[in-house]
Amino acid sequence: MNILVTGGAGYIGSHTCISLQMAGHSVIVVDNLCNSKVDTLNKVRQITDKEITFYQMDVTDETAMEKIFSNHHIDGVIHFAGLKAVGESVLEPSKYYYNNIVSTIILAKVCLKYNVWRFVFSSSATVYGDNEAPFNENMPLLPTTNPYGETKAMSERILTDIVKANPAFSVSLLRYFNPVGAHESGLIGEAPNGIPNNLMPYVTQVAKGKIEKLKVLGNDYSTVDGTGVRDYIHVMDLAEGHVAALDNLTEGIHIYNLGTGQGTSVLELVKAFEQANDIVVPYEIGGRRPGDIASCYANTSKAKRELGWTAKRNIIDMCRDAWRFEKNYKE
Ligand code: NAD
Ligand code: WQD
Repeated sequence: MNILVTGGAGYIGSHTCISLQMAGHSVIVVDNLCNSKVDTLNKVRQITDKEITFYQMDVTDETAMEKIFSNHHIDGVIHFAGLKAVGESVLEPSKYYYNNIVSTIILAKVCLKYNVWRFVFSSSATVYGDNEAPFNENMPLLPTTNPYGETKAMSERILTDIVKANPAFSVSLLRYFNPVGAHESGLIGEAPNGIPNNLMPYVTQVAKGKIEKLKVLGNDYSTVDGTGVRDYIHVMDLAEGHVAALDNLTEGIHIYNLGTGQGTSVLELVKAFEQANDIVVPYEIGGRRPGDIASCYANTSKAKRELGWTAKRNIIDMCRDAWRFEKNYKE
């Protein structure tokens, strides 16, 4: 199939381009490069030895999107393009609501106009709010603590209503847990701008000596060791989950958790990183981060049952691959 990948130069999108090409699909990327570099796509080409068509355009620009859809026969869309920094979304809510909601609406509208019936959307486990883990797809969406999370919940609702009005539209809402790691080649990975917000890139930068030590954000949660528990998933497993979602897409709206089902605490992750890479990660205990919950992990049985997909890589693989990328990465 010819797949349009929005946000394909970004972290998850670029890894998914690899899995799509390895599965025999052709890839067209649209990205405005607001949080990525075009060179990442050259690295993808190097890994797969296949061509990628690239448009540097904004998904909120309807005329630009129409141009792409009229230039190519597109069989399906994977919509990664979005802003994702939780803290920034609190400071600049309208920027987040505009970018993340308008891009979703325009893309769905253009898909329907050009008879493109397959649509896969990047959602997030954040839509479960403070439901009790393990999270399953039947749980109600609860309010999230930030505008970023709300854009995901709203996009899910908008796409659900669009499917109700257009029953032939086939939409998969993929709720990612905590994507980490990098492609095994070490050529592409997660390279956030500035000080990382998320745990794994923070740990890799401490290991590299760019940051002095990790601050563990709370050790008084009711978890195995008091630190926050999350469901870390290797980005290549996540990428392969997208191919499975696309290949198994049928009419209507479908929701899948993409996680491992395994919870790992902050201190367990630090220990795994040290063990995988034979390197010490200095840390200190700090206070809780506002909005954090104690535990977030997936019930993964629906994706296994309906998509035949499960994550294969473990926490040691995630730590090893994240470090291999960071070690060699030059800004
Ligand atoms: P990323 O920032 O690396 O990738 C997003 C890409 O979208 C970037 O290349 C950016 O330049 C592009 N982009 C943003 N707005 C655009 C627009 N209007 N037009 C064109 N391009 C645009 O982020 P990521 O980690 O790869 O996340 C991909 C998607 O997955 C996002 O929608 C994110 O919200 C979602 N998600 C990410 C995580 C995570 O922890 N990384 C978890 C759950 C969901
Ligand atoms: C993981 C754990 C922290 C940093 C976020 C978004 C979510 C989704 C994934 C997009 C928590 C602890 C962290 C640090 C720490 N993104 N931590 N020291 O918060 O689960 O999810 O990314 O959809 O929406 O909210 O991920 O990596 O920030 O935190 O101790 O310096 O690590 O408290 O327990 P989170 P995270």
